[in-house]
Amino acid sequence: MKIIGTGSAVPEFTVTNQMLEQFLDTSDEWITERTGIKTRQLMTTERLDDLGVLAAQRALESAGLKPTDIDMIVLSNVINEYMTPSLSSLIQGRIGATCPCLDVNAACAGFIYALDVAEAMLKNGHERILVMAVEAPTLMVDWKARETCVLFGDGAGAVVVTQGDNLKAMRLTTVSKPKPLFGYLAVSKTPWDQKTEPDYYLKMEGREVFRIAVNSSLKDIKSVLATCQLQPDQVDHYLLHQANLRIMDSIRKTLDVAPEKFPHNIEKRGNTSSASVAILLDEMNREGKIKQGDKLVLSAFGAGFCTAACLIEW
Ligand code: ACO
Repeated sequence: MKIIGTGSAVPEFTVTNQMLEQFLDTSDEWITERTGIKTRQLMTTERLDDLGVLAAQRALESAGLKPTDIDMIVLSNVINEYMTPSLSSLIQGRIGATCPCLDVNAACAGFIYALDVAEAMLKNGHERILVMAVEAPTLMVDWKARETCVLFGDGAGAVVVTQGDNLKAMRLTTVSKPKPLFGYLAVSKTPWDQKTEPDYYLKMEGREVFRIAVNSSLKDIKSVLATCQLQPDQVDHYLLHQANLRIMDSIRKTLDVAPEKFPHNIEKRGNTSSASVAILLDEMNREGKIKQGDKLVLSAFGAGFCTAACLIEW
């Protein structure tokens, strides 16, 4: 594949750490030190498909394509306001595309999984695919639970991919291990259901997730580097899932590469789940920070545990 356009969108409303201090037993100092997050954007008047539509339109515009030029949408999402239909099918109609649509859920690693699905579809004859990650993790946290709700923000990122040879390596892994990171959805109960009502909202053992994230991301990154016979410092940009600045720092220090090679926007955006890598990619692209021929490593990890990394030449 080759990426020929990028786009992203975040909600208009920005929540600062100080705003969280007003109703949670937390502090700007704690959140900044432990995570690097200063602000995040939350949906107020928007719905998630509104953000998806904007990101898709911006990606198409940057690729110089019309919605009807797209012959598939592959969209990563964990949670949105609709149980059905799929988020990709909602966005397809609103942007005026007519192609088949598919949602995938690989938690925070989903954007890279979606890229891999798109790569397979390109090999299968598709020509131009819109790959998206559209996420509202703020819908799944308990807004009284300071250990999780301060971490997240909403947003959408998109790329248009076409036939090409710029995806140089891909590694996906899933290790079934739900306990440190899971969330029950509130669903209908039949009159005969005898299970006790679970505790809804996202549950996370932060330290365990931290440890798994660092180890798995390092393994994935080393694997794609080995496939391409590259040393860590031969990569121009490492775009990691924006979950925690300390996780990124720990990975960077182990790889022994310069901080400039680990761009981040977590301080502004919080953790936008699988959209984080896609939004960061678009922001860097629009700021002209990625040059033709640059080597990018994308790496993400999330519930499952699902992890993924890929190496792309720009
Ligand atoms: N404000 C103030 N204090 C808090 C807060 C808060 N928002 N949250 C927790 N604390 C307290 C805890 O209660 C605890 O208090 P205690 O010592 O009295 O028990 C103390 O701070 C330390 O808590 P820890 O959980 O040990 O703090 P830690 O340094 O591990 O940081 C964090 C927590 C930020 C969640 C970290 O573990 C982390 O980032 N883990 C990985 C999370 C992650 O990557 N998630 C991504 C996957 S999820 C997804 O992307 C959908």
